[in-house]
Amino acid sequence: MKGIILAGGTGSRLYPITRVVSKQLLPVYDKPMIYFPLTTLMLSGIRDIQIITTKEHQQAFQTLLGNGHQWGINISWCVQDEPNGIAEAFILSEDFIGDDHCTLALGDNILFGNGLVGLLQSIMKPTLGATVFAYRVKDPENYGVVSFNNEGLGIDIEEKPKHPKSNYALIGLYCYDNNVVKIARDVKPTLNNEKHITDINNHYLKQGNLHVQSLGRGYAWLDAGTVESLHNASAFVRSVESRQGIKIACPEEIAWRMGYITDSDLNILAENLISSGYGHYLKEILLEDRKKYDIIN
Ligand code: DAU
Repeated sequence: MKGIILAGGTGSRLYPITRVVSKQLLPVYDKPMIYFPLTTLMLSGIRDIQIITTKEHQQAFQTLLGNGHQWGINISWCVQDEPNGIAEAFILSEDFIGDDHCTLALGDNILFGNGLVGLLQSIMKPTLGATVFAYRVKDPENYGVVSFNNEGLGIDIEEKPKHPKSNYALIGLYCYDNNVVKIARDVKPTLNNEKHITDINNHYLKQGNLHVQSLGRGYAWLDAGTVESLHNASAFVRSVESRQGIKIACPEEIAWRMGYITDSDLNILAENLISSGYGHYLKEILLEDRKKYDIIN
């Protein structure tokens, strides 16, 4: 299974903050936003990840993340010249995907919850078809919206409908078989020249090959694309981290607990960050039994 993170776009809903900085590099409390989708993929067991950025911001992302080897993963890089829609990610990543299945994570989505890791690892398997995730929200008109029949099966998906048929938004995490590249090629762009991810999902739905996994009350899904939602996401992460004394979406910790890096690797990473509380946290967890904390739950 390959992983893709889409971290381009203009971030115009966050202007002027994003005039010179990429949205996905902005801090969500104590770490860059892109750490969240990146660690979602890492926790799913995905180690080959392509990150799609704008040309303008690619260098800054590369300075932050490099080739991923420091965290036991492989990161490759790709540029999206224009924000031609989420579905374009699969066309740009065709060579990277090769004959594999792939999971796309949107660069501004944050997912957290008990049991999430076990759920993701059970879903991210190379099976035929697609899996998407639905989450109840109060403002479905701002998202892709799925409606269900009486048996709870997804029957229809609409992109930002004026009159949503349900309160269930599709979150920015999509798991597809290898057919997605061809399906993405066939998606007709809108008048704004955008290829919508919703058209891909509807394609799988019509074929009877779309599994819609609902995430209930025990999960938090936040997108950080507006000033308000970015602030809420930071406040959420701060509350959980300061109450529990743990970090959410810490790639160094996850790499270590997953067994991708050794104690001595983690120690070096910690030393490099030792001027911050983040570095101290990495030092502290080194004293724990790496398997004791239930990240794999
Ligand atoms: O957050 C989940 C929602 O994401 C889904 O419910 C919607 O169905 C889906 O269309 C998408 O809606 P958004 O309005 O949030 O999409 P947005 O344009 O903000 O793009 C999401 C991320 O993808 C954002 O980090 C920017 C990046 N992006 C977007 C486009 C259209 C790109 O890198 N390139 C693009 O061409």
